[in-house]
Amino acid sequence: MALIPQEEITALRQCVDIVEVISSYIPLDHKGKNYFGVCPFHADHSPSMSVSKEKQIYKCFSCGAAGNVFTFVQNYENVSFAQAVEIIAQKVGFHLSTPIKSIQNEKYSHYYEIMEVSSKYFTNNLKTEQGKAALEYLAKRFLDNNAIKEFNIGLALKNKDLLYQILKSKNYQEKDLENLGLINNHEQITDVFINRVMFPLHDPNGNIIGFSGRLYDNSEGPKYLNTRETIIFKKGQMLFNYHRAKNSIQNNKSIILVEGYMDAIRLYLNGVKNVVAIMGTSLTSDQIKLIQKLHCKVILCLDSDEPGQKATYEIGNILKNQNFEVEVIRLTGNKDPDEYIINQGIDAFKKNLNSPIKFLDFTINYLKQNKNLNETVDLANYVNDVLKDLSQEKDPILIDITLKKLADTYNLDYEILQDKLKQIDKLNKDIKQEKELKFVNDNKNIKLSKYEKTLKNLLFFMMNDAKYVRIYQENLVFINEAKYREIIKEILYYYELHQTINLADFLSFVTNNENVLPDVLNIVNVCSDIELEETAFYDFLKSIKVVNEKQTIKELKEKLKNCMDKNEKIKIANQIAEIKKGCV
Ligand code: CTP
Ligand code: MN
Repeated sequence: MALIPQEEITALRQCVDIVEVISSYIPLDHKGKNYFGVCPFHADHSPSMSVSKEKQIYKCFSCGAAGNVFTFVQNYENVSFAQAVEIIAQKVGFHLSTPIKSIQNEKYSHYYEIMEVSSKYFTNNLKTEQGKAALEYLAKRFLDNNAIKEFNIGLALKNKDLLYQILKSKNYQEKDLENLGLINNHEQITDVFINRVMFPLHDPNGNIIGFSGRLYDNSEGPKYLNTRETIIFKKGQMLFNYHRAKNSIQNNKSIILVEGYMDAIRLYLNGVKNVVAIMGTSLTSDQIKLIQKLHCKVILCLDSDEPGQKATYEIGNILKNQNFEVEVIRLTGNKDPDEYIINQGIDAFKKNLNSPIKFLDFTINYLKQNKNLNETVDLANYVNDVLKDLSQEKDPILIDITLKKLADTYNLDYEILQDKLKQIDKLNKDIKQEKELKFVNDNKNIKLSKYEKTLKNLLFFMMNDAKYVRIYQENLVFINEAKYREIIKEILYYYELHQTINLADFLSFVTNNENVLPDVLNIVNVCSDIELEETAFYDFLKSIKVVNEKQTIKELKEKLKNCMDKNEKIKIANQIAEIKKGCV
């Protein structure tokens, strides 16, 4: 595993500006000393992320994210630290001495390798005599050799532990295979996937993290079997085909969401490449974040059955709430896009794709379902539901047109509709304010003890300026908490190596040290607005010393209470007196 030398990381960091890099990902506004933007690391609308040009760090008031330019790219792009360094180096044309290909700093690279080897084994099975029936099945579903190659479709054979035997012969550890959800280890070891057509599932970077196996003959079992949740496979954090579709999504400025991966495969093979499958009918907040990164509008193209339409309504609302532009394609007469394209052809699909309906229009139609609009109560419920959804809409013209349409179609008073909408808007605002207030109050309740705050400030000063490291070395105080002692150790070590220190480079230095990193980031997050003043630093040292002394006195008094020996008692009492006088 090749590592990038620390000096290079520092040199690179010092020749880029965090404000420029972050603003290439999210819009930033300049306010006072800092820059502000909407934090991409949690679902939000308000600008809770601040970026400091002076310190070259960012932090989010709301979710606690913090770090330097590399950790931003690392978390935003969902890559390793080394890959983030590489991305920034490429951006600014900085030459890294370590060849890019050899940077294999992936935490899970060993796991990815096992999944890759397994996938090769599955794809190879399809080419053998035993793969004939599966190939016939795939052909029936219009998946030819080209499709099989593009999507690395494979086959798990009927034997119950062939994959296990193969991986064992390559010296992979049983434990790893179990952790990856490839084998079961109950009474005996067996493969998890037996006699299924296999579709590899990838993370956003294209690593294979799991498989979906589909029945292809008349054997028993569920139609689809997916890898269970493992250390690398989290179904709610991936979207099928995302890694292949990324570029096309960015070029088209739109993403097509479908339910099943067969739908995604069908569209992709027919040249509509900006498509991903959610593999079910709900969308998680992690999946939304993946879409947010691509700055695109969303075109929902789910199944045309009732659950598919319900999912369209629910997912569409969630996305609208996150400020996405949402459109809908309805493919009538067929179960799903896969079937539609097979029956009607890709041109018919593209025609639909070119004239999607706005989500609001979908809503207006969808809400009519199961209602008899000739009935007064049904009609009132319907209009109220539409108004509720309309209150999520931002475009005043669209709102006005919709109100007029409603008034005309159902012979209602336009002004009453307008008033009702205003009422709903006000209610929404009140709820939002209440939530925000609750959030602020909740955060106030987790106030740090004064002592812990002092410790954090002390460390923060030391990470920022070598002057404070030197003052600390001249006025050593004992730090009671092991986790903060560990951080001090790292700071002193960094200072010893470089004879200087600054926050942004110290962050790169500890980025792979999982023992200290979370606490360091937390300190950066809670302390970053404090002014560095020497007198304040001396105050920290003093108050930590006072707390230590109090603690020591407490312990000595305890000892005194339990002590039987008279001479020993006098000794302890003197110790206490000296500490109180401040002689120690
Ligand atoms: N799915 C899943 N696990 C299941 C069932 C479904 O992951 N137990 C996902 C799969 O990605 C599937 C999608 O949900 O592609 C839609 O499921 P379904 O509508 O049942 O699939 P079909 O399109 O009917 O599948 P096929 O065309 O292969 O019969
Ligand atoms: Mn389907």
